[in-house]
Amino acid sequence: MSEKSNPYNVPDTGHVWDDNLRELTNDPPKWWMIGLHASWILVVIYTIIYPSWPWFGGAYKGMMSWTSIGEYKEDMKAIDAIRARYEEKLPGMSAAAILGDSELSQYVTKSAKVLFGDNCAACHGNNGAGNTDYPILADDDWLYGGKIDTIVQTITGGRQGVMPAKGGAQLTETEIDQLAQAISKGEPTTAPAWQKGACFACHGMDGKGMQALGSANLTDHVWRFGKGSIDDIKYTITHGVNDPKDPATRNAVMPKFGGGKLSETDIKKLAVFVHQLGGGK
Ligand code: HEC
Ligand code: HEC
Repeated sequence: MSEKSNPYNVPDTGHVWDDNLRELTNDPPKWWMIGLHASWILVVIYTIIYPSWPWFGGAYKGMMSWTSIGEYKEDMKAIDAIRARYEEKLPGMSAAAILGDSELSQYVTKSAKVLFGDNCAACHGNNGAGNTDYPILADDDWLYGGKIDTIVQTITGGRQGVMPAKGGAQLTETEIDQLAQAISKGEPTTAPAWQKGACFACHGMDGKGMQALGSANLTDHVWRFGKGSIDDIKYTITHGVNDPKDPATRNAVMPKFGGGKLSETDIKKLAVFVHQLGGGK
């Protein structure tokens, strides 16, 4: 200790560095001491109010018996109360009426997302983006129609388009090849076999498809099967779609969700959801 070389007149601890750097015994600054005491007082108050110390046969429960699970349940109750306001209305409304009510349709579109993920996305892709050989639901190209009531019918009863296989004796290789070339250009009506009448009974005079039959539009370059290559198209013509007589036929089965598999309300929600994906009419 050497008081005289210390200009502040404060005792030092005797630790000296570099000959004249001394450690003094000043108290820490006042703000720092206030902070220190405030923080331990806060810890004590907190542990009294909230569950804290482990104790025999459990733990101290706190003055307010607060638990995180309790808070979660309270929150869920609040959310259910908000949901109930909408859910109560749905059973008495048609899908079209739900769609017409902007608040309800917004609610339904959000809440049906999970329903779609659980029941539909395996075939139709996330948000209806489509999978190879399963139709895209997020566009405005419809096999059966994009009106809200038609979508309800599709989901309730299922769909299964049928096109008979045209290979074998019915059409020659050349005819099938010409048809495929023409369809791939989006001009099916220019093929000779088309003009002879092999296809338009189902696909329409203009080749744009008929929604009552779910026959595809052959002029729009949107492909239902494969990627629309000449071979994909030839395969469809040769083996047909859902033709029970041809074991190599293309499968196209939209399962039925009515009759107990999903509730009517869930089907309405899904129809509104699909309609809102982008292509609803
Ligand atoms: C097992 C696969 C599968 C599942 C699951 C499935 N779909 Fe489909 N869906 C299809 C197929 C295949 C078609 C086309 C049917 C056809 O070509 O005749 C289709 C067609 C549709 C159509 C008609 C599209 C149009 O262009 O007219 C709608 C709408 C639809 N599905 C909605 C749904 C909804 C909503 C769900 C969930 C509740 C669902 N699908 C579940 C396979 C499936
Ligand atoms: C009995 C009705 C019927 C007849 C006749 C018919 N089709 Fe089809 N065709 C359909 C249906 C229904 C579909 C759609 C199947 C589906 O998506 O489930 C289809 C689908 C197709 C597809 C698939 C389109 C795609 O996007 O992948 C092609 C190609 C096609 N037809 C070509 C023809 C040609 C060419 C003829 C004449 C030789 C013909 N069809 C005759 C009912 C028919």
